Amino acid sequence: MPSNGTGQSNRILRSQEWFGARDLEGFLHRAGLKAQGWSEDSFAGKPVIGIANSWSEAVHCNSHLRDLAEHVKRGIIRAGGFPLEFPTISLGEFFLSPTSMLCRNLMSMDIEEMVRGLPIDGVVLLAGCDKTTPAALMGAASADLPAIIVTGGPSLRGNWRGEDLGSCTDCRRFWSELRAGTITQDEYDSMEEAIYRSPGHCMVMGTASTMSALCESLGMTLSGGAAIPAADSRRSTFAERAGARAVELANEGVRPSHIMTEAAFKNAIRTLLAMGGSTNAIVHLTAIAGRAGIKLDLSDFDDLSRTTPTVLNLKPSGKYLMEDLFYAGGVPAVLKRIEDLLDGSCMTVSGKTLGEEIADAECYNDDVVLPREGAMSDEGGLAVLKGSLAPDGAVIKVSAASPELMKHRGRAVVFESPIDLKLRIDDPDLDVEADDILVMKAAGPVGGPGMPEAGFLPLPRKLLQQGVRDMIRISDARMSGTAFGTIVLHVAPESAVGGPLALVESGDMIEIDVEERKLDLLVDAEELRRRRDAVAGTVGDSAAWHGGAQREERGYRRLYLDHVMQAPDGCDFDFLVGNTPVETHVEAPEHAAGHHTG
Ligand code: FES
Repeated sequence: MPSNGTGQSNRILRSQEWFGARDLEGFLHRAGLKAQGWSEDSFAGKPVIGIANSWSEAVHCNSHLRDLAEHVKRGIIRAGGFPLEFPTISLGEFFLSPTSMLCRNLMSMDIEEMVRGLPIDGVVLLAGCDKTTPAALMGAASADLPAIIVTGGPSLRGNWRGEDLGSCTDCRRFWSELRAGTITQDEYDSMEEAIYRSPGHCMVMGTASTMSALCESLGMTLSGGAAIPAADSRRSTFAERAGARAVELANEGVRPSHIMTEAAFKNAIRTLLAMGGSTNAIVHLTAIAGRAGIKLDLSDFDDLSRTTPTVLNLKPSGKYLMEDLFYAGGVPAVLKRIEDLLDGSCMTVSGKTLGEEIADAECYNDDVVLPREGAMSDEGGLAVLKGSLAPDGAVIKVSAASPELMKHRGRAVVFESPIDLKLRIDDPDLDVEADDILVMKAAGPVGGPGMPEAGFLPLPRKLLQQGVRDMIRISDARMSGTAFGTIVLHVAPESAVGGPLALVESGDMIEIDVEERKLDLLVDAEELRRRRDAVAGTVGDSAAWHGGAQREERGYRRLYLDHVMQAPDGCDFDFLVGNTPVETHVEAPEHAAGHHTG
């Protein structure tokens, strides 16, 4: 470490490059804070902690983060730091069209560049809704400045006519009942005020809850925080503690790359599997790991799945909701159940190892976090399938599927796109039987574009009215983590780039065998070659394989289509993989000597 000649380090926090110098630039930087009413004693010489806030009224799950940031600030000031809150773009599942996933990488770039460009020594990431948490971690991993994440917490349990409701598992369940004619439109409408009773993200083990929980097992948030309901005052104190800890992380120079190691990602995968968490987490974890310079393969998920029991009894795979998990002991209670399968030596942002964090964890409700001997399944909730229909892999959430469909051969009923599906699924003349397999194309990363959560194909109305409540459905789309059913997703390569999915025709036979991890299109190679040549002959070049996706001439969507990778690579942009660490401390400039250090 460089010295100033007195034997002491000559290194200073990077924020002092902005605020420490007694020159024109230092003058302007300090004036910028004084213009907001801060005296110099408030910030001089102190670690500056950014608060990257994804608050937005267009994202109801994150609509309380503006208030939560105030509690983070309290912690930062209490610990001797100076808070600097700034907005990031925010991505919500409900309002953003065509899909929030289209902008996950954009948000990660926003966060990376703000962290890189602002005068901060560390950052607290405020996130919540599905894509905001992975985007924040991706950006933080690439900038690699000290960081800690505070998720916004789940909404309170929904309640309708005395029944607990979970969003949006039960929104979907009752939507099917409405279409089947077993409830009325008025009854369905009356649930709108009952499903979300507070701010916060979806309260089942959907993508937001999954990613929040994985922040704990990755070590990027303080232990016990993921399940605290957004409306519980303990979320505020949790945020305050995180703010205080961020100051220490900045002083210590602890970076995300020190926390998000390969072993930590393996812990996160184990946690995902033990929780029966969202299939989307496979894509997000792969992308986050890629930013940290770690290559996750689909086989990592499948290998660990075979030896990880599913111990969490939450919807959509089970019975309870996130609020119940909090009262049962939170994520630490889940981690304690699989402690022997985790690498407890992984360091967390608290300064303790994961093993130390869960050493005293207790479970207060064995029906929510099941004992190992009473696990929902001896294997994890997810499986990776491969075969002639998905040479690079596909994913199924076994824990939310029908056991009797785990080995099945059926006739394909094909929809060329989500729009085609919408137009024809309820056609009384649709040729479909209960043991057919619904197939949808053109909903992958390129074809969507943005890999929309369109994989929860609705069942044909005429089958619903016959009492059918599940069928095998296959697509290159994603599925909301709140959804359920025997649904095969993320088929790769996707149809829009020429995967075999593009060649499936109605009437083809498809075979699925989850135990054997197989997904095959039972059409001989010669016939598939004929079909491929026919498409190429019609269109003449590779443009044939952009099934339905419009080519973009300009803007972010052009960047997206030119650079997005397939689902097994996390749908990140090829040029964003890896990181470029920001310096945490810099050489003290001559003119900073003798500066007021507070
Ligand atoms: Fe935001 Fe479900 S809509 S988490």
